[in-house]
Amino acid sequence: MKEQERLLSAEADQSDAVIEETIRPQSLDEYVGQDILKENLRIYIKAALQRNESLDHVLLYGPPGLGKTTLAFILANEMHSKVKVTSGPSISKPGDLASVLSILEPGDVLFIDEIHRLPKVVEEVLYPAMEDFELDIMIGSEGQAGARSVRLDLPPFTLVGATTRAGDLSAPLRDRFGIVSKLEYYNEEQIGSIVRRTARVMNTEIEEEAVTEIARRSRGTPRIANRLLRRIRDFAQVLNDGVISKEITEQALNRLHVDSLGLDEVDIRYLRGIIERFHGGPVGLEALANSISEETTTLEDVYEPYLIQIGFVNRTSRGRTVTEKAYEHLKIAHPHALF
Ligand SMILES: Nc1ncnc2c1ncn2[C@@H]1O[C@H](COP(=O)(O)OP(=O)(O)OP(=O)(O)O)[C@@H](O)[C@H]1O
Ligand SMILES: [Mg+2]
Repeated sequence: MKEQERLLSAEADQSDAVIEETIRPQSLDEYVGQDILKENLRIYIKAALQRNESLDHVLLYGPPGLGKTTLAFILANEMHSKVKVTSGPSISKPGDLASVLSILEPGDVLFIDEIHRLPKVVEEVLYPAMEDFELDIMIGSEGQAGARSVRLDLPPFTLVGATTRAGDLSAPLRDRFGIVSKLEYYNEEQIGSIVRRTARVMNTEIEEEAVTEIARRSRGTPRIANRLLRRIRDFAQVLNDGVISKEITEQALNRLHVDSLGLDEVDIRYLRGIIERFHGGPVGLEALANSISEETTTLEDVYEPYLIQIGFVNRTSRGRTVTEKAYEHLKIAHPHALF
């Protein structure tokens, strides 16, 4: 199944992209959860504003859909700055980066999404830009007569990088961020607040029990919570005068094959794959990915973080193992269980 087609995928699809613009919180006060990170950022922002400086460079990392992009825009808002947006995959050569950097104005926030995908040659141009606000560019082709490197001064700016794979970032790049923060999964109460807020923005009435139910099945991920809410709203509109009740919510979620913990077919295939083909593990990622026809990176970035978070999977040096808790959830007898 393609990632975009999955209802429970934490990755954004086309319709998310449009709707997320309208429901994205705009300020730190509206941004739910991530409390420690938020309080630290408030201090850094206040200090930078008092000194009339730009904020130190910020690296945000964590699984998809937890609010990295949202936070990047909020940082810019709170700094009263403009934000320029680009991404690792769209900067393939030093010249691409140079043109992005050369249009920066003092105090701007430059947001680079998927920053782990910047090519090495581009990273090297980024180092002096981050450290000294300087840009070295080559004029003419290297090795040819008249070719030379010129150094341009850049205005002070804040780089905000986002990535789902902090481990793929080179050490020199990571070291140049003054603020490095990991986003955590949200608890049910926090997801509940996000659901209530989104319902309010969408002008939809929702019962408290429905909020709880959605929160429980959203894998601690705001993007999934908001997406489920939108689907359930459709059911409510057609079947229940638009009010999102507990009954409608359960009915919709069951029809959508979202289980009581928010696991979907791929999660189940992953767990069953380890249990049925590898006796519960340990199994290497490659072998597992092959056996259930998924990409290793998708498993690592999208599925495993949540399965590990809820204690269903352990990642050991010998490979992945499934825990007793997962056997229980799937109602499969654990091989070591006593009869
Ligand atoms: N803390 C939060 N409070 C309220 N809503 C949130 C929060 N975090 C995320 N959201 C909502 O979830 C949606 C997804 O968040 P966002 O796009 O920022 O995730 P991301 O971490 O950048 O994901 P990706 O890794 O796919 O780029 C946003 O549109 C926003 O509405
Ligand atoms: Mg994002």
